[in-house]
Amino acid sequence: MSEGPQQVPQHVAIIMDGNGRWAQKRFMPRTYGHKKGVEATKKAISFFAKSGVRQLTLFAFSSENWNRPEDEVSTLMSLFISSLEKNTDELHANGIRIRFIGDRSAFSQKLVNQIEESENMTLKNKAMTLNIAANYGGQWDILNAVKKLAVKVENSEILAAEISSDLLSAELSLAGSPDPDLFIRTGGEKRISNFLLWQIAYAELFFTDVLWPDFSVEVMQQSLDAFAGRQRRFGKTGEQVKA
Ligand code: IPE
Ligand code: IPE
Ligand code: MG
Repeated sequence: MSEGPQQVPQHVAIIMDGNGRWAQKRFMPRTYGHKKGVEATKKAISFFAKSGVRQLTLFAFSSENWNRPEDEVSTLMSLFISSLEKNTDELHANGIRIRFIGDRSAFSQKLVNQIEESENMTLKNKAMTLNIAANYGGQWDILNAVKKLAVKVENSEILAAEISSDLLSAELSLAGSPDPDLFIRTGGEKRISNFLLWQIAYAELFFTDVLWPDFSVEVMQQSLDAFAGRQRRFGKTGEQVKA
């Protein structure tokens, strides 16, 4: 139970799931759900920033999502470009730093340019960092980090025996960010879908059946309330934590 001031998670990570089903329930194409999803995303960014969350990491496109129908993939890519074009100024005005994580080499030059522009413009902002995971996979992230460490060993910059969880964390795409405290998945599925694997080792999990376009401020607040009511033990006993 929470005693004293409510505990706000420093870092919230969200799998924004359910856009397609939201649209299909309305006999609309799945892409309509993604457009509605952008509005929910804007609401969530502003809610969590106002709540005092310092890092918000959103899963926008997984490395597996390339397997979707071509028109859905291309709509999503266009939505990334247009959402960044339309919203970077406002995010910047609100002190939000935009950072993309994932393999951007598969993106169009236009999208890469827009990502770089949004990242550069907001680089020094301090209110909240918004990490957007696009063409991201947790296994890709860990593999990449391992390869970078292997190169350092090859170049005799470090010894294999010196490899520690801190050294590995420093090579992951969220290097420099504390690990997520609260992990949220909308859309009813109870799985991680290759999102942050290493970093959610001790995150509190919150699953809701609400589909992403319906993710309201009330449900967002529910997730924070649920978090505040959890006792994080990190392996210790409840009595040790209270003491
Ligand atoms: C999440 O919603 C958005 C992306 C994966 C890009 P979905 O498109 O997965 O929606 P459902 O799960 O099919 O309803
Ligand atoms: C996870 O959702 C990826 C994003 C939300 C971007 P999916 O809808 O792709 O996950 P699965 O395939 O149902 O596990
Ligand atoms: Mg889905």
